[in-house]
Amino acid sequence: MAKKLFIKTYGCQMNVYDSARMADVLAPLGYARTETPDDADMVVINTCHIREKAAEKVFSELGHWRQRKTAARAAGGDVTIAVAGCVAQAEGEEIIARAPFVDLVVGPQAYHRLPELLAQAERARAKRNGRSQAGAGVMDTDFPVESKFDHLPEQSAEAPGAVGFLAVQEGCDKFCTFCVVPYTRGAEYSRPAEAIFAEARRLIEGGVQEIALLGQNVNAWHGEGPDGRTWSLGRLLRELHDRFQPQHPRLRWRYTTSHPREMDDDLIVAHGELPGLMPFLHLPVQSGSDAVLRAMNRGHGAAEYLDIIARLRAARPDIAFSSDFITGFPGETEKDFEATLELVRKVGFASAYSFKYSARPGTPGSLLPNRVPDAVSAERLQRLQALLLEQATAFNQACIGRELDVIFDRPGKFAGQMIGRSPYMQPVVVSDARLGMGDRASVTITAATATSLSGTVAAAGCGDSLEAA
Ligand code: 5AD
Ligand code: SF4
Repeated sequence: MAKKLFIKTYGCQMNVYDSARMADVLAPLGYARTETPDDADMVVINTCHIREKAAEKVFSELGHWRQRKTAARAAGGDVTIAVAGCVAQAEGEEIIARAPFVDLVVGPQAYHRLPELLAQAERARAKRNGRSQAGAGVMDTDFPVESKFDHLPEQSAEAPGAVGFLAVQEGCDKFCTFCVVPYTRGAEYSRPAEAIFAEARRLIEGGVQEIALLGQNVNAWHGEGPDGRTWSLGRLLRELHDRFQPQHPRLRWRYTTSHPREMDDDLIVAHGELPGLMPFLHLPVQSGSDAVLRAMNRGHGAAEYLDIIARLRAARPDIAFSSDFITGFPGETEKDFEATLELVRKVGFASAYSFKYSARPGTPGSLLPNRVPDAVSAERLQRLQALLLEQATAFNQACIGRELDVIFDRPGKFAGQMIGRSPYMQPVVVSDARLGMGDRASVTITAATATSLSGTVAAAGCGDSLEAA
């Protein structure tokens, strides 16, 4: 009988992708993924370490699974508990020490070794049967010499949805002083182009209509091209377009997350050349103050960021932007913060994520003097969010009356309601009994909030638009 695997995913899209890969690795061992935690034989908690309280969240979630495990054991069964992701990488030893009922801890670079780890965990479990559980968990948080990508199954166990994720790059060499990613994900690694083409082909053959290329520093991708030379992301996107767009002219492409320093001309120009590349870019800036950007080790100033935005707009006039911001980085003055507001006013963002600075253990930022009091960071965050909300509302309202191409990938709250994504990543809510998962339609936008749109399937071309790409 198939064993049931429940994976709880926190954090970024890379983690969503990794969760699917872990399911692929475990499928040959007889594990099938379930969405209901209650009947799981194994649970994987795929964690995120980016901001505060991540570890505490994991321990509180583990408390729940400890009870489940105790109950299952009392009934003669068991639940295997695994902790994966960036908290596993950063705090694996503490997890093993504080939560001895955890069977295995696995870092993001070791997912291909899950079967081996599981076997080890089972041996450890057999040994300690009936005895104390202390310290019996198995852990693998090494950064292997070979990439995990060379060892993950080619064929995915799961049918892809309408929108597919494709990891092309992992890790980070930028060492922004606030960020844990270089420590949890390791050095930058770019998958070779051929592996990316093969995975894109499988996704497209599986019916995806949009592919998001993923990487912590996706535009730093510098993988081996089919000619044996090092290619850039712009070149990779052109080649993907050339290979797949002729047969699938409505395929949509994106890439995330990018670093301003890696936004080279080749990539900027690609936005004007490739109709399948969506007119939307998430380009985190973090701050609009040169002094703060320097302290963050971002490697660019506000003027350079604005210049990149201007060049992207020149290449693709309808492009929209989102970004990430941090308020209250050590040393940030009111004047620095005003420079952030100024940058936001100059760009005009379609959407954005903004956070209060959180000192992460082990990062250089956590050692900086001139900490900004929490109340000040919070107050700045509020002002920033008010401005970003205004901009997002304006952007979304400007879509009213337009027809947008929407790919529907999740059900809405109410019967007959579906939610999809516009080219600008806006969630679009439509009530129409004809719509199902994976459908695509041209939608006339009739209403907008700061975070979503709603509308009706455009009468014209409806039959055609409900077809797959
Ligand atoms: N404190 C607050 N926000 C952070 N981010 C990353 N590290 C921190 C931190 N220590 C934010 C950045 C990044 C996004 C993914 O999370 O804005 O772009
Ligand atoms: Fe979280 Fe960043 Fe790790 Fe993604 S890469 S899981 S956002 S810490």
